[in-house]
Amino acid sequence: MKTHRIALVPGDGIGKEVIPAGRTVLEALAAAHPDLHFDFELFDWGGDYYRRHGLMMPADGLDALRKKDAILFGSAGDPDIPDHITLWGLRLKICQGLDQYANIRPTRILPGIESPLRHCRTEDLDWVIVRENSEGEYSGVGGRAHQGQPLEVATDLSLMTRAGVERILRFAFRLAASRPRKLLTVITKSNAQRHAMVMWDEIAAQVASEFPAVTWDKELVDAATARMVNRPASLDTIVATNLHADILSDLAAALAGSLGIAPTANLNPERVTPSMFEPIHGSAFDIMGKGLANPIGTFWSIVLMLEHLGEPHAAQQLMHAIEQVTANPSLHTRDLGGTATTAAVTEAVCAQLAAAKRHTAHA
Ligand code: IPM
Ligand code: MG
Repeated sequence: MKTHRIALVPGDGIGKEVIPAGRTVLEALAAAHPDLHFDFELFDWGGDYYRRHGLMMPADGLDALRKKDAILFGSAGDPDIPDHITLWGLRLKICQGLDQYANIRPTRILPGIESPLRHCRTEDLDWVIVRENSEGEYSGVGGRAHQGQPLEVATDLSLMTRAGVERILRFAFRLAASRPRKLLTVITKSNAQRHAMVMWDEIAAQVASEFPAVTWDKELVDAATARMVNRPASLDTIVATNLHADILSDLAAALAGSLGIAPTANLNPERVTPSMFEPIHGSAFDIMGKGLANPIGTFWSIVLMLEHLGEPHAAQQLMHAIEQVTANPSLHTRDLGGTATTAAVTEAVCAQLAAAKRHTAHA
């Protein structure tokens, strides 16, 4: 029997509501499975921590996280602190510090959820976006000089390494090979970005030769947005650079019905360091503290976490419970046009898990 050591990092805004909801669901799962155990540690990092200590997380925070099996993260962002400080001081510090280079964003239209695409059937939109998560446009390399002067200059360098590009493309081809359609679309912009993106394309072709079973194509990022809207069924696994995938994954989440549902895994696939799981939505100050946040994005992220922890049965059970709940419009939160609260959705998912347990016990 294994105990999974989970770091809880709620962060800011509605992160402080959805992460406790996630813990409740994990406890309900553990109660339903005698072999499943979690040991939680809560880290109160984020905006309030910054106001007290001048840092978003302690200098040795990564060492504390390295001792865990997985991290469940809420969101980073604070109305009174510049976004680049909250982001680089917490979320990116963890992702880059723990080399979580593969960011995975599955998108499906869950039961009971409506896509804004008029003719889109559930089976037409079943994507996984693989986002390069360690370099590219988010390398952090750049600078400013002559601030406030007419000569002021600022740069953000998009940095791509052969090693970084190779590992993310190999990860994406492997993931595509594991999915039924074995279909991969490599997003590029090598028509305009004539150095790094051309290398990206070359490496894609090289890595593709290792995966003869995968059908793959290339799509320019701008054309990809139109294709997602007009021909969603032509896509399955999608791989893109850090910024391209950031943008495409918001579009994907919106096309699947709501940003409140979409999950993310920040993986270190080699498992040298713990991986981090988080809802895609931000801190949503407009609704924070009101109990209105949709916890489904967190619950679905927990499904990804359970899969990563080698608990496929619990993962499946939780996904099933989530789908039972989304299928019921009276359990929709405000982002889905409903009036349900975070607590009501959480209770409903826990009730499904408990019912599944009773059902198994009687079978
Ligand atoms: C995401 C988010 C972040 C990002 C924000 C909060 C900086 O949009 O996870 O997609 O751009 O990476
Ligand atoms: Mg984003």
